[in-house]
Amino acid sequence: MKKAFITGIGGQDGSYLSEYLLNKNYKIYGIIRRNSVVEHQKNRIENLEINKKINLSYGDMEDRSCLDNLLNKIKPDEIYNLAAQSHVRISFDVPEYTIKTNALGVFNILEAYRLNSPKSKFYQASSSEMFGRSVEKNGYQRETTKFEPTSPYGCAKVFAYNLVKHYRNAYKLFCSNGILFNHESPRRGANFVTNKVIKSAVEIKLGLKKKLYLGNLDSYRDWGHSKDYVRAMHLILNHKNPDDFIIATGYTRSIRQLCKVVFEHLNLDYRKYVRQQKKFLRPEELKYLRGDSSKAKKVLKWKPEISFEQMVEEMIDFWMNFYNSKK
Ligand code: GDD
Repeated sequence: MKKAFITGIGGQDGSYLSEYLLNKNYKIYGIIRRNSVVEHQKNRIENLEINKKINLSYGDMEDRSCLDNLLNKIKPDEIYNLAAQSHVRISFDVPEYTIKTNALGVFNILEAYRLNSPKSKFYQASSSEMFGRSVEKNGYQRETTKFEPTSPYGCAKVFAYNLVKHYRNAYKLFCSNGILFNHESPRRGANFVTNKVIKSAVEIKLGLKKKLYLGNLDSYRDWGHSKDYVRAMHLILNHKNPDDFIIATGYTRSIRQLCKVVFEHLNLDYRKYVRQQKKFLRPEELKYLRGDSSKAKKVLKWKPEISFEQMVEEMIDFWMNFYNSKK
């Protein structure tokens, strides 16, 4: 039985990845952070079938001792480092915390891995936010596109990405970066734009809310489904060589287009309900993302299977069911 160790197991990707690997007969270990409200500790995975099957310990990316102890004890075949302060706008409010977790935290786990379980394979959740202002002339970002991050979050992710490559070269460890573009699902935090728009549109449809306040409507994102993207993580670690891969759909849409599609699904005109509010704008915005995942398609035989439209419908159904079951 293969063993996987997942940081960030309580997040969107951690929960889908656990389900995916359990189906492949893996034994799953993960860390969760202590929260003063015990119910919040693992509320994303609490009601899922996987909750009974995974082995959870308290842990934190800033606590080297717990990472050392766990990796020494478990000696997993695969380590998936998904833990992060994952909200880009909030990284402007708590830049030091974001950098400690997303940059120094990765240093901590790489050291714990190198010294306690060097035969493991290591996956780092790198991000398209690392590209920032940078786009190729043909309108895509790919593995060779330079990084010009526009947020504390993006800067920290670039540091971690470089560290992973350095550990691969210096210590001959199997460590890889998946450069994942935005990926969503009903399990997405409701303060990320897709789920915020969809949850609010459903609330407006049901008469529970009057207006939706957003930030920049004219930035573009390449949105895929988290389920497709966790499959890519596993393929990356099971490729013969450690390497870095872009994981994206290759389609891009603005936030305005997202609003139009979601509200139209509910027979509403978004222009009547959506307003801009300054507090949701970012000091510097990443304006445009569109990933070229040709390398992953060719080398890993990976391609996304869930379309944007299917994902939006799944997320609308989720919120409709949520409110209908409350009635
Ligand atoms: N969250 C949020 N809330 N975003 C808004 C809002 C709003 O009210 N209004 C407009 N936006 C715009 C943001 O300015 C951004 O351009 C876009 O919607 C997407 O924002 P998010 O959904 O918060 O995602 P993100 O692109 O900043 O970051 C996500 O994707 C990265 C990969 O590129 C996160 O999942 C990161 O952790 C991930 O690395």
